[in-house]
Amino acid sequence: MWFVKLTTVVAFVLFSPCRAQWDASRFAWYTSDAGSDYASTLPVGNGRLAAAIYGTIDEKVSINENSIWSGPWQDRANRNSKNALSSIRNQLTSGQITAAGSSVLSNMAGNPTSPRAYNPLGDMTISFGHATGRTNYFRYLDTYQGTAFVSYVYNNVNYTREYVASYPHGVLAMRFKAQTAGKLDVTLSMSRSQYTLSNTASSSSGIYEVHLSGNSGQSSGAIAFSSTARIVTSSGSVSVSGSSIRVTGATTVDVFLNAETTYRYSSQSAAEAELNRKLNAAVSAGYDAVRSAAITDNTGLSGRVKLNLGSSGTAGNSNTPTRLSNYKNNPNADPQLATLLFNFGRHCLIASSRDTGSLSLPANLQAIWNKDFGPAWGSKYTININIEMNYWPAEVTNLQETHKPLFDLIDLAKGRGQAMAQVMYGCTNNGFVLHHNLDLWGDAAPTDYGTPYMMWPMGGAWMALHYMEHYRFTGNRTFLQTRAWPVLQSAANFYYCYLFNWNGYMTTGPSLSPENTFIVPSGMSTAGKGEGIDISPQMDNSLLTELFLAVIQTCQILGITGSDLTQAQGYLSKIRPPSTGSYGQILEWRQEYGEAEPGHRHMSPIWALFPGSGFTPLNSSTNSAAAKKLLDHRMSNGAGSTGWGRTWVMNLYARLLDGTSVWNNAVAFIQKYPSPNLWNTDNGPGTSFQIDGNFGFTSGIAEMLLQSHNVVHLLPALPPAIPTGSVTGLVARGGFVVDISWSSGGLSSANITSNNGGQLALRVASGSTFSVNGISYTGPISTTAGSTYRVARS
Ligand SMILES: *[C@@H]1O[C@H](CO)[C@@H](O)[C@H](O)[C@H]1NC(C)=O
Ligand SMILES: *[C@@H]1O[C@H](CO)[C@@H](O)[C@H](O)[C@H]1NC(C)=O
Ligand SMILES: *[C@@H]1O[C@H](CO)[C@@H](O)[C@H](O)[C@H]1NC(C)=O
Ligand SMILES: *[C@@H]1O[C@H](CO)[C@@H](O)[C@H](O)[C@H]1NC(C)=O
Repeated sequence: MWFVKLTTVVAFVLFSPCRAQWDASRFAWYTSDAGSDYASTLPVGNGRLAAAIYGTIDEKVSINENSIWSGPWQDRANRNSKNALSSIRNQLTSGQITAAGSSVLSNMAGNPTSPRAYNPLGDMTISFGHATGRTNYFRYLDTYQGTAFVSYVYNNVNYTREYVASYPHGVLAMRFKAQTAGKLDVTLSMSRSQYTLSNTASSSSGIYEVHLSGNSGQSSGAIAFSSTARIVTSSGSVSVSGSSIRVTGATTVDVFLNAETTYRYSSQSAAEAELNRKLNAAVSAGYDAVRSAAITDNTGLSGRVKLNLGSSGTAGNSNTPTRLSNYKNNPNADPQLATLLFNFGRHCLIASSRDTGSLSLPANLQAIWNKDFGPAWGSKYTININIEMNYWPAEVTNLQETHKPLFDLIDLAKGRGQAMAQVMYGCTNNGFVLHHNLDLWGDAAPTDYGTPYMMWPMGGAWMALHYMEHYRFTGNRTFLQTRAWPVLQSAANFYYCYLFNWNGYMTTGPSLSPENTFIVPSGMSTAGKGEGIDISPQMDNSLLTELFLAVIQTCQILGITGSDLTQAQGYLSKIRPPSTGSYGQILEWRQEYGEAEPGHRHMSPIWALFPGSGFTPLNSSTNSAAAKKLLDHRMSNGAGSTGWGRTWVMNLYARLLDGTSVWNNAVAFIQKYPSPNLWNTDNGPGTSFQIDGNFGFTSGIAEMLLQSHNVVHLLPALPPAIPTGSVTGLVARGGFVVDISWSSGGLSSANITSNNGGQLALRVASGSTFSVNGISYTGPISTTAGSTYRVARS
């Protein structure tokens, strides 16, 4: 019985206050298969290989390897840019915005305009010879173990399918089983709709394999991959049938799959050697050992945080689609659905972003799951919000290792960006520039063709701040010295060359405020037209401010003096400060232009509220009040209109210490955006899948319970709707691991473990009094590494 099996599984996890069959905070489960809906599949991954499992009669598994993209490196730099730059700046400062916009397009656009796109490996089909008439069907994704499972009865035989993505062994492993001996037939094949080089099945010395190889289609320099599925069974008979392997009369069939590409290996044969090395090791360990090592590894990450937002009781006992549907009318009945989405976000990050060597690749727009050759927005790395959002939960929810692939990609992109700084801006001081997208080659050129998004030279600044945050959370000084500093220094160098003096301020331009437009005022050329290009947008100034602060902080920690320090200090004092407009709002642009889209989805002008910190209430009550004005205005005009936009709003309200609004937006997110398998969408099920919203959701819940950009702030934005609950294992800057329990809407107690020693400055809720280790708290305390400090209400 599955009840019995799950009880044994549940024995080593203590998530749930309720002992229902399915822990409602942990399992996404279904009583029917995904049909042809990709957004109903069960997504698993080991940080490099991924599977999306349909659970259909003939099983379909969509497979990805994260370095299979649409082609080789492209030099897309526009050689006209350098010479056009000063005339475009003159146009912008002398009231010729429209002309500047067209000059930007013709002189600065990349050629071609797009970087490479993420592509699928292909599909695996496993036919069991079954037809309609399956009963007792269920399938689930286990967000704790990172595994998937399918079970049903057919012709009185109980069949099961298990799916494991193993990080330790670097393979995907599957077990197909009939509970009645000898009743399992399996025909396994692989396919790919484009650029297939070979697709064969083989048997040699008792080893049965299906092979699929392909490439990205170019006649030279294409990314090539090889993949192999090895089929292992101890009973029944096995044969090669065309490009399939066929097993009949078996009881258990195990499949191990690996794929490797020429992105990481110098040739296809070198990739194949690595492919076989991992496959041989996994097969000789055997399925049970592979599965248990994978689960130990996965739970070692997923199990670090346990969240309890209250019990759903019977409302949590329904399958996931039913819960999603009920939630639209009665969200208060199922608080565990929010906990499940929080856990699902962490599952997706673990599945899509692991250190797999020196060329690890980070989670992209669809994390790691993509079935299309022309996916939405190329399923690439869009760095004017989306990929940053992917990593918002990494540090605070104790998955700091998952951040590393992002640093690998940025280290690669830094070299590209230094070349781009030279070609496009004439900067030869080793500064690097990134625009608003990257691909797996770190392509640093502007992307697409339009003034509201293309010309944005700020990607490097934002990315460099991720290195700084990793240091702030972990305190890893080696990382700061060897990885963060070279990137921070190079990011800052670019701006020392690139910024220009405007009215006494060192200013960006041509630039934009991601994806928004304003109405060109009279006197600045085509009045009334929507335009995106300008100088000195607030977001750029916020990014520059926090970049130079990070450089100064790093210099202080590492003892760096000289021009690295003095230039950062000098430039910091010359950044245009934020200004406010007619209703007290932070201004998005250098002056109050008419708003083309008052409910715009990007919250760029208040970036410094979140993920930055300069506009937060404890840092600046004036700027936070003005940021709130803009946020409220945007929301009352329809912002939060995409899944990811909605979850950015959660994080922003958390930073405004407004728990009610965090929760209202969390509820609004769950009511509209998740697809049946919980993936975030742009506009609700059936519209584009984009993973960022899942990660933004997880981060938003964490920010509601713990913040640390100023002091370590416990329960900064606890929603009245969640008066009782607990969380363990969140992480605060300074390397503090934080467990909190709360009741009646306030702190019960917290345990804070210091990883690195150091000063601990604390705040509880809106300034409640409290004690630390029984002593009334009056100011920062010195901690000892390894010690735990008990905080209680006083
Ligand atoms: C089939 O076997 C699986 C695995 O033991 C179990 O979870 C499931 O409940 C069984 N189904 C039926 C109908 O007994
Ligand atoms: C600290 O950072 C270095 C450099 O990135 C890394 O090799 C090391 O594993 C990190 N230490 C810990 C404890 O994570
Ligand atoms: C916010 O305040 C904290 C604590 O004083 C400080 O460390 C941090 O640099 C401030 N952030 C900004 C952007 O000024
Ligand atoms: C803190 O630790 C104490 C002692 O181990 C424990 O009783 C309490 O439940 C913990 N509190 C939290 C919030 O984890």
